[in-house]
Amino acid sequence: MKEKRNSFSSSIGFVLAAAGSAVGLGNIWRFPYLAAKDGGGLFLLVYIILALTFGFTMLVTEISIGRKTKQSALTAYGKLHKKSGWIGGIATLVPFMILPYYCIIGGWVLKYCIAFCTGQGGAAAGDDYFTGFITGYHEPIIFTVIFLLAVAVVIFAGVNKGIESLSKILMPALLVLVVAIAIFSLTIQGSEGRTGMDGLKIYLIPNLEGKGFSDVFTVVMDAMGQLFYSISVAMGIMVTYGSYFQDDHNLMKSVNRIEIFDTAVAFLAGIMIIPAVFAFLGNDGLQKAGPELMFVALPKVFQSMGVIGNIVGAVFFIMVFFAALTSAISLMEVVVASLIDKFGWTRRMATVIETVISIAIGVLICLGYNAFYFECPLPGGSTGQLLDLFDYFSSSIFMPIVAISTCILVGWIIKPKAIIDEATKNGETFGKWGLVFSWVNHEKNKEHKLEISRRTLYIAMIKVIAPILLFVLLLGSLGIIR
Ligand code: PHE
Repeated sequence: MKEKRNSFSSSIGFVLAAAGSAVGLGNIWRFPYLAAKDGGGLFLLVYIILALTFGFTMLVTEISIGRKTKQSALTAYGKLHKKSGWIGGIATLVPFMILPYYCIIGGWVLKYCIAFCTGQGGAAAGDDYFTGFITGYHEPIIFTVIFLLAVAVVIFAGVNKGIESLSKILMPALLVLVVAIAIFSLTIQGSEGRTGMDGLKIYLIPNLEGKGFSDVFTVVMDAMGQLFYSISVAMGIMVTYGSYFQDDHNLMKSVNRIEIFDTAVAFLAGIMIIPAVFAFLGNDGLQKAGPELMFVALPKVFQSMGVIGNIVGAVFFIMVFFAALTSAISLMEVVVASLIDKFGWTRRMATVIETVISIAIGVLICLGYNAFYFECPLPGGSTGQLLDLFDYFSSSIFMPIVAISTCILVGWIIKPKAIIDEATKNGETFGKWGLVFSWVNHEKNKEHKLEISRRTLYIAMIKVIAPILLFVLLLGSLGIIR
């Protein structure tokens, strides 16, 4: 029997759920690192410009596709255009692949949460603690399963009672915790005379020293890759959440709010992490990102803070736990909703089956650190285990492919107007601002002005600029350029 389609009860509920997806590990462990590496304020500036143009375009497009078709990712693209159903297939494959390993990392976060909350932060800062933990046989699997079950319970409860209600509590709480830690971080007196404020300067002041054209290219590509991952597009999430967005709610306003929330948390994560890491570990500390930053370097930073470090660490990992949980929820929702829409299964059945499959794949990936250990070379010179391979194919290869195909579908096949009409059907506008170029013709002593509205910008973005940027990003992931 077909269940009635869910919807978010309010636009704020939708915004917080979508922001819950967008704000994830990427905001915390990658954004600050890239900002420090890519010239501080320079990176921030490029990121914000891209968010307002490229990010905006992708978000409006995906949410509109969802709302217009009232279908989740797997079936939405086919409904939009008969021959394009395969895009939905890959868009659903991405969260299906990411969920198991995202929950493994969620399990690691949970382990550290418990360690810090029970006063064991000192032990967690030990040299081999992290490696010892992830290469163990039982513990990582147990934590992964607990994390996955927590996700499943929320999905089981549904869009409204589960995802929306939880996001309304966790997201504001997360924001308060990030702000609190960020303020604390600025007051730090570190080792060798370094302070939190010194770190803040590295983060905020644009550093163009010794930067040539190729470095600027790297900054743009880094910012673009980060933004792309951060706003949770190209993995069916925004399409699926968009399908629960009510017809008479303001879509444009919601897109702006999601972007502001996501960028604000990423920015605050930088204020939280860079000053603290710089104060205690210096420039060496700033070279670290990903799991190494979160599970090795930061515990050492917390330890250096003395007695208070355990409390700060506990608050930090609780905050990360919220961020990871709401992102994992959005991943599972895509797969479950797709199963419901495609096969008419009940939410219960779809949730149970997806949970069992994810546990099976998750266990396999966990064993990639012991029983099935191997080192596989990846483009860019690094090597990786099973988890890295899942990550590489899903986020570096499939995601750009989904995004490029979406741009071509909307830009050239169904045409941007279809999306613009959907996004503005309640009389919303694309916003008053746009790009204004003005120049003076000295010979004729005449001033010229060219105004490009945000609507025109959207069309140019979706048709030409975004696919080109994404293609370059894909070539970068394949190791063909850079
Ligand atoms: N947007 C998330 C982040 O910044 C990434 C993500 C979300 C990944 C949802 C998977 C699923 O970390």
